[in-house]
Amino acid sequence: TQSQEKYRPLYHFTPQQGWINDPNGLVYFNDEYHLFFQYHPDGTVWGPMHWGHAISSDLVNWQEQPIALAPDEHGTIFSGSAVVDWHDTTGFFNGQSGLVAIFTHHDHNYKLDHIQQRQSLAYSHDAGRTWIKYEGNPVLEHDELIDFRDPKVFWHQETARWIMILACGQTVHLYGSPNLKEWTFLSEFGDGIGSHAGVWECPDLFPLMVDGDAATTKWVMLVSIGSSDDFIEGSRTQYFMGEFDGVTFTPDDSSQEIRWLDYGRDHYAGVCWSDIPVEDGRRICIGWMSNWKYANLTPTEQWRGAMSIPREITLEQRAQGITLIQRPVQEINTMRSPIVTLENTTLAEVQAKLASLQMDSYEIQITADITSTFALQLRASSSQDQVTVVGYEGDASEVYIDRSHSGDHTFHQDFAGKHTAKVDHNLSTIELQIYVDRSSIEVFANDGQVAMTDLIFPDHDAQGLGIQSPDQHLPLSSFHIYQFMSS
Ligand code: FRU
Repeated sequence: TQSQEKYRPLYHFTPQQGWINDPNGLVYFNDEYHLFFQYHPDGTVWGPMHWGHAISSDLVNWQEQPIALAPDEHGTIFSGSAVVDWHDTTGFFNGQSGLVAIFTHHDHNYKLDHIQQRQSLAYSHDAGRTWIKYEGNPVLEHDELIDFRDPKVFWHQETARWIMILACGQTVHLYGSPNLKEWTFLSEFGDGIGSHAGVWECPDLFPLMVDGDAATTKWVMLVSIGSSDDFIEGSRTQYFMGEFDGVTFTPDDSSQEIRWLDYGRDHYAGVCWSDIPVEDGRRICIGWMSNWKYANLTPTEQWRGAMSIPREITLEQRAQGITLIQRPVQEINTMRSPIVTLENTTLAEVQAKLASLQMDSYEIQITADITSTFALQLRASSSQDQVTVVGYEGDASEVYIDRSHSGDHTFHQDFAGKHTAKVDHNLSTIELQIYVDRSSIEVFANDGQVAMTDLIFPDHDAQGLGIQSPDQHLPLSSFHIYQFMSS
């Protein structure tokens, strides 16, 4: 069965077959979450892009659907978003509500060596099952810009119009529209701020309350940065915090400090769901778990590419100031069951438990004193020649994933390595939540302050676990393991 396939994750979305990259068209409508994605159905490398589609009622169990959007006379279908047009501003729905997708038509004329990227619309009369392309496509083009793509659209209540944020080379442009069809340029953001190590892609812009208090609302902008050869990390995602007045985004902090969304190598093009009901109120994001540096080379067979765990994003006032927090959506907990539950325990006790376990898909929660140092050995082979290490170093206040010996890494010279992130050291304890699946690790530290996502490709039977510390008597305030089951 599919769940026996090599490297096939148990609780992360993958396509049945073919290549995927960015999540697209994330929208909630009629009690269903939609996940569209960049899709090449006819191969396991990037190729002529379609929008693949999956539907879920709980963000964790996905039913793959037929292809939603296929290439046409305007080009292939690049990334974009979807919204519920509640009041039929488009006129597509005869006064009712419905889904509209706003995406990039990418036209590459190889003979003339000419690329054109333009924004287009499609709409659905059956809650996303089938799609009709708008006959007036494209709806937005640019005379000069070649990189002009990845529209993310939202309804802005205060100015009563749609806003589009679009990636334009190494800045973003904002546009406004009453009906999704006619767009007016509003402003540009990004010159001289943030990382410019590659082309800007897949932006998002949304408001978040600080600590759930409507009186302090901040706008968060996500911008993914494409891979360039001199950028060892490959592709990754930065974010900005600031104000948005309906026309212009103004960052709070115009210093050069770059804020990364994720400190691993494999979380890219992450954007958020549109139209989550107000009663729910969550801002939920999902990312593509790969990196353009080696995305086409990872050693899977029928399929290539997976999505991250959906994450809830919040802003919290912490010791360091207003902090962007990421936590796995709580729905993920329905798929796991407890295997080990230890409170006020010791290194030796945990070592004894782990020595008897063999697992490939699980969650570990560990809490210890902020000054401690420890390392968990995960997905370890019996000979120990394969092992992924997730650890914390109290002296440096650093959490890390070391995948140098995690399994197959021969497909790219920059894949093996150790990735680190600083944690807030004003705290008295360090808490790590570590999600292991067949071919990925996601670490959340300090209740969501740090997120780190890395792919790994261990042998199927590399399923051992261990823990080590320079302090043989290290006390641990808690240690839990939950196993994930295939559904
Ligand atoms: C980001 C990206 C987008 C583009 C899509 C093409 O990963 O390069 O900018 O729309 O992938 O598949």
